[in-house]
Amino acid sequence: MHSLIIFGASGDLTSRKLIPALYHLFLKKRLPLPLNIIGFSRTVMDDDEWRGKLSETTKEFAGSVFTEDSWASFAALVHYQAGDIGDAASFAALGSRLEALENSNPADRLYYLATAPQFYGPAAEQLGEAGLAAESPGASRRIVVEKPFGTDLDSAQKLNDSIHRHFDESQIYRIDHYLGKETVNNVLVLRFANAIFEPIWNRNYIDNIQITANEEVLIGRRAPYYETAGILRDMFQNHLLQILTFATMEPPARFDAKAIRDEKVKVLQSIRPLSEEEVIANSVRGQYRSYRDEPGVAKGSQTATYGAVRLFIDNWRWKDVPVFLRSGKGMSCRTTQIVINFRQPPHSLFAGKTPGFDPEGNRLLLQIQPAEGIQIHFMSKIPDTDMKIRNSELNFNFKNSFRGEMPDSYERLLLDALEGDASLFARNDEVEAAWRIIDPVQKTWDSGVMQDPEFYETGAMGPVQSERWMETFGQRWFDLCPMV
Ligand SMILES: NC(=O)c1ccc[n+]([C@@H]2O[C@H](COP(=O)([O-])OP(=O)(O)OC[C@H]3O[C@@H](n4cnc5c(N)ncnc54)[C@H](OP(=O)(O)O)[C@@H]3O)[C@@H](O)[C@H]2O)c1
Repeated sequence: MHSLIIFGASGDLTSRKLIPALYHLFLKKRLPLPLNIIGFSRTVMDDDEWRGKLSETTKEFAGSVFTEDSWASFAALVHYQAGDIGDAASFAALGSRLEALENSNPADRLYYLATAPQFYGPAAEQLGEAGLAAESPGASRRIVVEKPFGTDLDSAQKLNDSIHRHFDESQIYRIDHYLGKETVNNVLVLRFANAIFEPIWNRNYIDNIQITANEEVLIGRRAPYYETAGILRDMFQNHLLQILTFATMEPPARFDAKAIRDEKVKVLQSIRPLSEEEVIANSVRGQYRSYRDEPGVAKGSQTATYGAVRLFIDNWRWKDVPVFLRSGKGMSCRTTQIVINFRQPPHSLFAGKTPGFDPEGNRLLLQIQPAEGIQIHFMSKIPDTDMKIRNSELNFNFKNSFRGEMPDSYERLLLDALEGDASLFARNDEVEAAWRIIDPVQKTWDSGVMQDPEFYETGAMGPVQSERWMETFGQRWFDLCPMV
């Protein structure tokens, strides 16, 4: 028997992502049954009121698969328990409710913290104090912690300490929903299930790597969060560095949580830390022009809505290969992608055959979202010419190759957490290693030693300075809005 307890039951994440994902899994008959889903938040409701609200939101967010009949079967699993994370009595009541729903049988419990970050530590402590964290045979106790995990190394370590008081590291699942994406996982399959890529996946053949996560959206009403976070905490410490580990880690000895996470940590620990001087030379920041007009944003706000950072991984595979990370809000299109730029051939046999054409090295483009696929860019002959050449591409698209909808990342991650597979969740040393990389950049950006973030127009490709900065390294961004 399983019980899934969602803290933050009345919130946005629960209604928009978690319940639709659970409903999809139910329709696919993948949920481990019997299962109780218990919502916990302060709003006073009974089971039926919560089911009614969720029925409306799931209709909206689950897509065309929603039917009243299947919803009625799913809703029978759903229960609600009003309570306050600050109140010990609420946890005693939750414990009794769980015992009743589980008929006092041993059950695996998964606590999902879908609340604001300041409640992660207190919720874990209350669960521990109420005796709800202790495991026994056939009764695991796991806890899923949403992002953001801390705001810097110090706060992440304090949060780790606070959760570790009652939960062992093996019980903790720190979520980064990017890791549930099929296309991110496909990076591992591409690299380690094929023989043709790995031999060239190193400094001998690769010139540079570019990882981009751009969004068209502006911050809207999220100023209270965004003003304290900015682009580095919002996108770099978690999503971009996680994608970087998948693209650059060594092959793990086995496909299990420990082996995979050991390799990810090794890559993060190999990233060269940046001094203040190096941050100035190796990063660029920008702000979309209308940012300071957003409700709640300070008049002279220095918060970056665009950032680019150049990193080096000091190991045998990647020594001296620059890895460029960038992310921005208010960009010309939404795209998350990894670009592997290969070196030019050592000798250009066709130089001068195509006047004005500047041949590029081969390029492998791994599209993560919203386009989901892989492209290989290579040179080919222009037919009916005297060995003139041009760029051509091979294109693989998941949507054309597989029937059916690509699942939302929360489906995969919820199922893994229910089944106790932590491979796609961040370990404490991983999170802390990521903060060790980002903290010095954030500190330098906050210190006032750099020029102000350059304004850029919304709908553009970020600040002009970012293009110039790339030119100083003899590089240029690969910019392409994907065809979806
Ligand atoms: N929304 C997303 O798409 C998304 C995506 C990725 C990560 N996240 C993360 O997920 C977390 C939740 O985000 P959200 O957007 O769902 O936030 P939200 O809509 O503000 O929901 C917060 C939830 O916490 C509950 N809550 C607040 N104080 C409480 C207390 N003292 N005791 C018990 N429950 C309490 C609220 O319900 P009551 O007021 O009824 O108590 C509400 O259900 C955040 O950490 C966010 O960073 C969200």
